Amino acid sequence: MLGPDLSARDEHLVELMDDPNCDPRRLDATLRRFGLVNRLISGWGTVYRHRLRPLIAGLERPARILDLGSGGGDVVARLASLAAADGFEVRWTGADPDPRAHEVAAAREIPNARFLCADADALHEAGEAFDVVISNHVVHHLDTQGLHDFTEASRDLASHRVLHGDIARGRLAYHLYSVGILPLAPGTFLRTDGLRSIRRSHRPAELSAALGPDWSVTSPAPFRLLAEADGRA
Ligand SMILES: C[S@@+](CC[C@H](N)C(=O)[O-])C[C@H]1O[C@@H](n2cnc3c(N)ncnc32)[C@H](O)[C@@H]1O
Repeated sequence: MLGPDLSARDEHLVELMDDPNCDPRRLDATLRRFGLVNRLISGWGTVYRHRLRPLIAGLERPARILDLGSGGGDVVARLASLAAADGFEVRWTGADPDPRAHEVAAAREIPNARFLCADADALHEAGEAFDVVISNHVVHHLDTQGLHDFTEASRDLASHRVLHGDIARGRLAYHLYSVGILPLAPGTFLRTDGLRSIRRSHRPAELSAALGPDWSVTSPAPFRLLAEADGRA
């Protein structure tokens, strides 16, 4: 199996969706299709069962959960439906600083959910606070300073726990994704950006070293990373 050199994280590779001038129709289609892709690969069902469900149940009051970098809002939609099926009352917030992503998310109708066009600093300045902060597929978009700022700010917004989920870089993940995504990719950036995402993403030991001792980095599902820390809001 040939392919790019995956021995080190390629932090300088730019994803098409991160270009402010990218094709808006393709970006829109990409954001809308994240729901299906995330359901297949992102492992949030497992993270919900093993991490979020016990946290929500332990609060014994409505939980406040923030998805930071919520894109088109699909992870909020999925988690909200899992929590509702368990009979939990949760107040969901999805926040994303990119107005193009916010527009897609804001068009969703999810009970007890709101979407804000904001980053962590804006939420902090607005006095927002949450029990749990999560993210999906944001970490690999960030450079070293951005990762530090994002993860520190996420702890400042959470009183209980922070959970950042992402891809784990690896050759098998790269080759399986390059073929498996083909049916879903037409009209979107999913194939190009997904493969670039894998090249930009960390291995567990790399992310653990980058985040430091306050964080635990595990692999909750194949080809996945989960970085967790206590909140300090
Ligand atoms: C690949 S998308 C993932 C969207 C969504 N979480 C999902 O899984 O469908 C990455 C998102 O992270 C957002 N993002 C990038 N840097 C961010 C930052 N520093 N803070 C919050 N969001 C950020 C982008 O605007 C983009 O919508």
